[in-house]
Amino acid sequence: METLRTIEEVREWRATGELGFVATMGALHEGHASLVRASAGANARTLVSVFVNPTQFGPNEDLAKYPRTLEADLELCKTAGADAVFTPDNAMMYPEPYRTWVEVEGLTDRLCGASRPGHFRGVTTVVTKFFNIVQPSRAYFGQKDAQQALILKRMTADLNLPVEIVICPIVREPDGLAMSSRNRYLSEDERKRAVGLSKALTEVRKLFESGTRNAGILRGQLITTLDDYVDKLDYAEVVSAEDLQPVNEIEGPTLVAVAAFVGGTRLIDNVILVDRDS
Ligand code: PAJ
Repeated sequence: METLRTIEEVREWRATGELGFVATMGALHEGHASLVRASAGANARTLVSVFVNPTQFGPNEDLAKYPRTLEADLELCKTAGADAVFTPDNAMMYPEPYRTWVEVEGLTDRLCGASRPGHFRGVTTVVTKFFNIVQPSRAYFGQKDAQQALILKRMTADLNLPVEIVICPIVREPDGLAMSSRNRYLSEDERKRAVGLSKALTEVRKLFESGTRNAGILRGQLITTLDDYVDKLDYAEVVSAEDLQPVNEIEGPTLVAVAAFVGGTRLIDNVILVDRDS
């Protein structure tokens, strides 16, 4: 496996052939590994980027303390089947004076976008830049970040980017907690309570499966359970999985998404409800 440090090295390595791409911010875990394996299984070669993208962090967020574990990340990438890892620095990705941004309208101002203004502008900009640098045939993202996945799909379609977007399922710990680089911030007690997000979502899925279609009832259940576990709820929403608009009665594919603080750590999780017979 090669480590590529500059944009020129990536362009040279890129050359020809089918290429799968996995964008990450490092501090890699099994969730990331699942994307690398999916890519390695479907493409001649796979490139993983490891870049803690400063433009997607708000002024009061965890950019400075975001975990950086490059050596372990390289090992995980190699084991999962990556052929190269690209590790650019800030100056390379955002040469001064940097002035160009990619923005997706509408989908970005709700859920995580409401509590993290500017976050998705940073994500869509850096992913567009990576697509242009790497020129992948396919790019792999996780359903864990459901809104991000939807926005990146929209962006790719709207801008006619010649990349196939593949969304992979959420990888969870044995107790149900969705894997996240931020889980390592949790104390022992917080780690125990963090399971509340997936617990609440599982209850909602069961309610749905037993016939409940009223979004208010599902949301009420979600909030009641979350209250027992988390310190502060950011949002708990029942929205259309296609456009993220709130729904009253569930008809089409529906995204149930939560964000909550356990201690000082903000965690997210979600489930998609789909009628088996629809
Ligand atoms: P990061 O949080 O490192 O996640 C990189 C990719 O891994 C994303 O597509 C994310 O959805 C996926 N992922 C994370 N946890 C997962 C899990 N438990 N199961 C499945 N997939 C999981 O998302 C970002 O970085 C950044 O916003 C990025 C797209 C790299 C742009 O900077």
